[in-house]
Amino acid sequence: MANVIIIGAQWGDEGKGKITDLLSKSADVVVRSQGGVNAGHTVVVQGQTFKLHLIPSGILYPNTECIIGSGTVIDPRELLKEIDQLHKLNVSTKNLYISQTAHVTMPYHRILDQAAEERRGKYRIGTTGRGIGPTYSDKAERIGIRMLDLIYCDRYPEKIEWTINYKNAVLEKLYGLPPLNAKEIIEEYRGYAERLRPYVVDSSLKIAQAVKQKKNILFEGAQGTLLDLDHGTYPYVTSSNPIAGGACVGAGVGPTIIDRIIGVAKAYTTRVGEGPFPTELHDEIGEYLAEKGAEYGTTTGRRRRCGWFDGVIGRYAARINGLDCLAITKLDVLDELPEIKVCVAYEVDGEICREFPIHALKFANCKPVYETLPGWQQPTSHCRTLEELPKQAQDYLKFLAELMEVPIAIVSVGAAREQTIIVEDPIHGPKRALLDSKGKPVKS
Ligand code: IMP
Repeated sequence: MANVIIIGAQWGDEGKGKITDLLSKSADVVVRSQGGVNAGHTVVVQGQTFKLHLIPSGILYPNTECIIGSGTVIDPRELLKEIDQLHKLNVSTKNLYISQTAHVTMPYHRILDQAAEERRGKYRIGTTGRGIGPTYSDKAERIGIRMLDLIYCDRYPEKIEWTINYKNAVLEKLYGLPPLNAKEIIEEYRGYAERLRPYVVDSSLKIAQAVKQKKNILFEGAQGTLLDLDHGTYPYVTSSNPIAGGACVGAGVGPTIIDRIIGVAKAYTTRVGEGPFPTELHDEIGEYLAEKGAEYGTTTGRRRRCGWFDGVIGRYAARINGLDCLAITKLDVLDELPEIKVCVAYEVDGEICREFPIHALKFANCKPVYETLPGWQQPTSHCRTLEELPKQAQDYLKFLAELMEVPIAIVSVGAAREQTIIVEDPIHGPKRALLDSKGKPVKS
């Protein structure tokens, strides 16, 4: 039995969908703990492409239960689109469960997200415009609409009506935008409630029952460590906690039930939206990574900013999440490069800095200190074992693992399920060594 968290170790889009899909095979339950339709997973199974935003990719296995947990925010219109897409492709959603306490993204959230971005001007965050921030703001302000409110909206329409009227005042007075029609929205959302009602459960109880029955549970993170509201590159972050601790909060489980935490990182780095990115490449190599890596967002279609692997961020992600092992994705994207750089430290204000500086202004001034490794300049997508990889690719992976002080368990060399190298058993293989005060592994 093992309960595993999968976490993005960079700025999101690390390829978590593929790794979750891979591990879902041996999971009985997959839980999505945070985020909303800002996330996007692309999973390719037998040549068929699935684009998922809210539903865990575990849904593609007929016996895996998938839970959208309390810490998520749910846009019912988008969720129903996703359900319909799955049905069209003959994928059943009988094993889908939605938390009754997840918050609902309403039409005004999306409008306010976009209006606030425009108003921020040069301070814009580059959000996905999907209403994520405003939905979480309302949750914190305690005026949010939860799934419970939605499915009982026949009984309690006043609460939704009051909230819409309140938001109308903001729309009109702050942004000069037209008000929304409360009656029409309630009617529209009543329809969504009818369709979603069968899926709505007490999710933390359902997870607790699975724990009791010793089922294998996979907690699937959305976004990535550096987008964490508390520990990321604030303010250029999302409004939830994509780190391992956030998975426990969002699912409603105690950290003691977690057996293993897997970090997913690309063999290089990407970022969407605004905010500092020390290893970003504005040259032809950046272009090459974007094109070869098909670095266009699943959710917004925006081109991702691309750069070299950042080991400072990698080490930070290992620390903040307590990573046990790593899955390195998209190694094949580097196949043609004659040399590959890795950022091992930053230079800032004339000093060398090996730890991630949480202060936004300091981080914005960091210049990467690189080590250059030789490329392998041959294809790797057909490789299925570490030994089959060119020697330089093996050395590159070893370098990353040593830099992050975390063992690599999985390497992905293509989008398809089978284009994967299992280096160590990711669930039962070696864990990250405990380090002593001098940073040396503690011998057990
Ligand atoms: P929001 O989550 O839409 O509020 O966007 C806040 C920031 O997080 C923006 O920079 C987005 O581009 C980024 N972001 C949100 N979701 C994802 C994701 O799934 N992958 C990568 N970046 C994301």
